Amino acid sequence: MLRVFEAFSGVGAQRMALRNLKEDYRIVATCDIDETAILAYYYTHGNNKKSRKKYDDPKKRKFIIDRGIGNKNKILKMGSDSLDVLFNAVDVCNNLGDITKLDVNKIPDHDLFTYSFPCQDISSVGTKKGLDAGSGTRSSLLWECQKIIESKKPKYLLLENVKNLTTGKNKKNFHDWLDYLDDQGYTNYWKIFDAKDYGIPQRRPRVIVVSKYGECNTNLVKDNDVLVSKNIEDIIDFNEKDWKKFVPKSKVRGSVKNKHYAFLDDRDWKLNGVMIGKYCSTQRAGRTGLKIIKNENGQLFERKLNALECCRLMGYDDSDYYNMKNGNLTDGQIMKICGNSIVVNVLMNVFKNIYEEENL
Ligand SMILES: C[S@@+](CC[C@H](N)C(=O)[O-])C[C@H]1O[C@@H](n2cnc3c(N)ncnc32)[C@H](O)[C@@H]1O
Repeated sequence: MLRVFEAFSGVGAQRMALRNLKEDYRIVATCDIDETAILAYYYTHGNNKKSRKKYDDPKKRKFIIDRGIGNKNKILKMGSDSLDVLFNAVDVCNNLGDITKLDVNKIPDHDLFTYSFPCQDISSVGTKKGLDAGSGTRSSLLWECQKIIESKKPKYLLLENVKNLTTGKNKKNFHDWLDYLDDQGYTNYWKIFDAKDYGIPQRRPRVIVVSKYGECNTNLVKDNDVLVSKNIEDIIDFNEKDWKKFVPKSKVRGSVKNKHYAFLDDRDWKLNGVMIGKYCSTQRAGRTGLKIIKNENGQLFERKLNALECCRLMGYDDSDYYNMKNGNLTDGQIMKICGNSIVVNVLMNVFKNIYEEENL
């Protein structure tokens, strides 16, 4: 049994991967501050469970605000029904809230600590402010994980972030972090995983560091057989009818000649021209414009990907999308959740290695 603490939990792609592997696991706590992410997690994994705490509304508000979750004024004004859902989400999923305020004594013991900290200040399209300790940037929240690692000494750790963490001005901090883990007694493995090599037609290169306390006999970032493989036809929602004629904005690279469908990227046209191909560009939280193109008897049509398709491109189950949608999240919110998340297939590959090491 792996007891897991999912920090920066988002929708819980980590938990989806563990669920899909059908191995023994238990999530002992999560931690996030974003209201939408916390609701997404609850709708996906909470099975509609209700808190056992018999709190009145002011006590519920205090419970949420004390954890540094959401916008304080919004929570103070929130209607009773919305408050009830958010309170259930925080309590049922044991969301411990803001990592900067976290009292380590409140964190249950766990075997695996996952920390996919914010990438905004590292990513090539982000602020580029970096992640120096004490800089106050969102990406510098990485250093908050030290108190958890030092006090709980989890057997396994999993870091995930954008590839840029390993290069340019971020490279020093990345290697300082690896040295730190080494000093703490961890054996570390890291690799850039691109979702397109793990059965999902999306370019999404991400660095993953997997660590084990003490010696380790398994290469924790090795590739395993891809368990679920999807191509563009598996991603497409054939109920979607909103196609319009494709009129290229600039030079077209790639073609859809011998196929019916391809992904289309017409946003970076100044740099690259309109690109057509079998892999979708990286989904990001700030973008909802990813597109596909189809060839119908030589006539080309385009449309934007919908939220169900975006979920499929992250390796989520369709039921994960419907649970969020039925829970009341908008398609725009769900796409943002996807953009911030981790491709489930990649996590399944890595968790398989951890279970292999556990079963030696
Ligand atoms: C890159 S996303 C991780 C997504 C996640 N791995 C998933 O499966 O969807 C980073 C998350 O960190 C959360 N976050 C930002 N600041 C935080 C803080 N101070 N404490 C805890 N979580 C925080 C964000 O709300 C966001 O959901």
